[in-house]
Amino acid sequence: MRTTFCDLLGIDLPIAQAAIGGAAVPALASAVSNAGGLGCVNMTGFKDESARQRIRHTQELTSKPFCTNFILSYEGQFEEALEISLTEKVPVINMFWGDPAPYVDRVHSAGSLLLIQVGSVEEASHAAECGVDIIVAQGWGAGGHVRGQVDTLALVGNILDEVKGVPVLGSGGICDGRGLAAILAMGAAGAYIGTRFLASEEASVATEYSKQILKAKQPDTVYTTLFDYGWPGAPHRVLRNSTYRSWVEAGRPPKNQRPGKNDILATDTDGYQLRRYESCTATADLEGNIEALALWAGQGVGLVNQVQSAAEIVKEITGDAREIIQKLATAFSD
Ligand SMILES: Cc1cc2nc3c(=O)[nH]c(=O)nc-3n(C[C@H](O)[C@H](O)[C@H](O)COP(=O)(O)O)c2cc1C
Repeated sequence: MRTTFCDLLGIDLPIAQAAIGGAAVPALASAVSNAGGLGCVNMTGFKDESARQRIRHTQELTSKPFCTNFILSYEGQFEEALEISLTEKVPVINMFWGDPAPYVDRVHSAGSLLLIQVGSVEEASHAAECGVDIIVAQGWGAGGHVRGQVDTLALVGNILDEVKGVPVLGSGGICDGRGLAAILAMGAAGAYIGTRFLASEEASVATEYSKQILKAKQPDTVYTTLFDYGWPGAPHRVLRNSTYRSWVEAGRPPKNQRPGKNDILATDTDGYQLRRYESCTATADLEGNIEALALWAGQGVGLVNQVQSAAEIVKEITGDAREIIQKLATAFSD
């Protein structure tokens, strides 16, 4: 099941685990990479030794390629972790929410590849012109922060028409073998999957968040800018939870009048206090009112019904996609 994406990286399967905030820990990334896909480690909030340790920990768990993720709108906050990723020879640098141009030469000189997730044809064309190696086309149904306004299939098709010679992955709403088969049929080189991996044994996800993901159906997500503390003005897709519902019931008031705006909802193991409306991922180490935090999830959430190991997820999605493609080939072979 190799595609141009697999050939570029020397991996077996056309699946990349998306950057899913703090849930994307070394155990998850390495499990996905060991299963034949491309795993991703979150770097937001990691500097100096903590960034190096995280990368080395992943390298101890896998000898296969993986990537580290950087959110470009946090300019000035990720320089150290990026430099450490490059000196530690992380095979792929994964970027989102900004212009990759200033980083292309630096990443290539260090011997790494550059991946960027985009939300429009314009962003994709620019990335290809700049020499980015892998483009992820993020559709509007994606979980977490959502860059563009277009559905995954339409965006992938338009980007493939525009950008030649660069592997394009589809992202947003792909949760099973049917989604992977569909995106491959479009001509994409693979799928970039977030929400499904939240329900993996290795992801760092608070128990209540996991429960909410498994319970949710497709209409339970909403595209909003509500959870903006720490990252203002960036639209995102979350589960409709108590925080969202109270804000709607209060008449959708502006920022300074939102209900419970000063509430502390949860605390992490370092004592960091998370506020209501904070842009954060509900990781396993949090204690408090998890249900009221930003519960990022994509429109495919209704397809996620059980927690499995990351390896099982990769195997099931690729196995099912292979079967679907073979059946289609047989059905339409005359
Ligand atoms: C829990 C969660 C956290 C996310 N955090 C990040 C992040 O830190 N960096 C990033 O580049 N993308 C982040 N995203 C967006 C994903 O990279 C990707 O676009 C999305 O998961 C794909 O859609 P899907 O969830 O429907 O598979 C996050 C998504 C989720 C679900």
